[in-house]
Amino acid sequence: MSSLKIIVTGGAGFIGSSLCEHLIEKGHTVLAYDSLFRGNESNLSGLTGHERFHFMQGDVRDIERLDEAIEHLGGIDLIYHLAAVNGTKWFHEAAHSVIDVNINGTLRTLELAMAHDARYVLASSPEAFGEALQQPIKDGNEMTFTDPSLHQRHSYGASKYLDEIACQHAARDGLDVRIVRPFNAYGPRLLGDEYGQVVAMFFQAILSQEPIQLHNGGLQTRSFTWIRDVVDGFLLAGLEDEGRQGESLKGRAFNIGSTEEVTIQELQERIFSIVEKDPAWDKDLPTVEVVDGYHGDAARRLPDCSEAEKLFTWRATTWLDQGLQQMWSALR
Ligand SMILES: NC(=O)c1ccc[n+]([C@@H]2O[C@H](COP(=O)([O-])OP(=O)(O)OC[C@H]3O[C@@H](n4cnc5c(N)ncnc54)[C@H](O)[C@@H]3O)[C@@H](O)[C@H]2O)c1
Repeated sequence: MSSLKIIVTGGAGFIGSSLCEHLIEKGHTVLAYDSLFRGNESNLSGLTGHERFHFMQGDVRDIERLDEAIEHLGGIDLIYHLAAVNGTKWFHEAAHSVIDVNINGTLRTLELAMAHDARYVLASSPEAFGEALQQPIKDGNEMTFTDPSLHQRHSYGASKYLDEIACQHAARDGLDVRIVRPFNAYGPRLLGDEYGQVVAMFFQAILSQEPIQLHNGGLQTRSFTWIRDVVDGFLLAGLEDEGRQGESLKGRAFNIGSTEEVTIQELQERIFSIVEKDPAWDKDLPTVEVVDGYHGDAARRLPDCSEAEKLFTWRATTWLDQGLQQMWSALR
């Protein structure tokens, strides 16, 4: 495959920074574009000074700045659009910004891809299915959302839903668009602060000796997916010209997730068991508090990954215990 010119929006974030590293490793020229709202340039420190890597700080809604980014790259073959307001605590708290960034950012970058005839990959989410009453989550399931007067958590999921509509519309107009839905990615750079995500928050609580909070009794299940597996899904979805048997990838959506389903309580127990076995860790484990959870938290989020399996032979390869062990080793 020839060397491509690629922009990764949200490139300083958790998934974006790993994606940039692997794209560089594959010989492409990459520009990470990020407002640093939640991402951090330190996530990209391994790429600093690399001749094929560029970083530009900018807002994904700012079309002039995006034009500058493309000029800096000297053209564009592929846009990976990952920039979004992510982090569950924001969704209800800052619904206006979530809607603004997630929808307008997608519209602007889609317009850019169309203007340059570049391939486009959207980072969507299983939350595009809203309450996700049908499991496993797969194309064709209903996407259903709660009455917005009750809570505004679905600012995120509904924005991803509209992003997917905009992508399918662009595909209908001829753009080579692909959609990736990662399922609860985790790994060492995941944010563990109060606006972070659950795996990192649990590790963070252990490291800072603060109580662990289990939302809604911890009975909701998730399918945690190791960062390398998630990035492999993004690489395949963006870099392959067609499916394994020559299928067109235009307008296809790929669930990228582990099928190892655990409750949040089980996640906490598995993390405790890894830390307990660590001879180098002699501190007490934190207490566990059961608290009210976030509004609209889905009871399950189980992926059907048959599309990625069929078209790319992709499947998650890292068991949860292996990933948690690697994450603990990297963090402590
Ligand atoms: N992590 C997951 O498990 C998961 C699951 C489903 C979907 N996703 C999607 O994948 C993408 C990447 O997620 P992540 O986990 O790396 O989150 P992240 O928050 O680490 O990355 C998102 C990046 O977007 C940047 N950003 C936010 N607003 C911006 C703006 N206005 N202009 C430019 N940049 C802006 C942030 O600074 C951040 O670096 C997001 O679109 C997210 O919705 C992630």
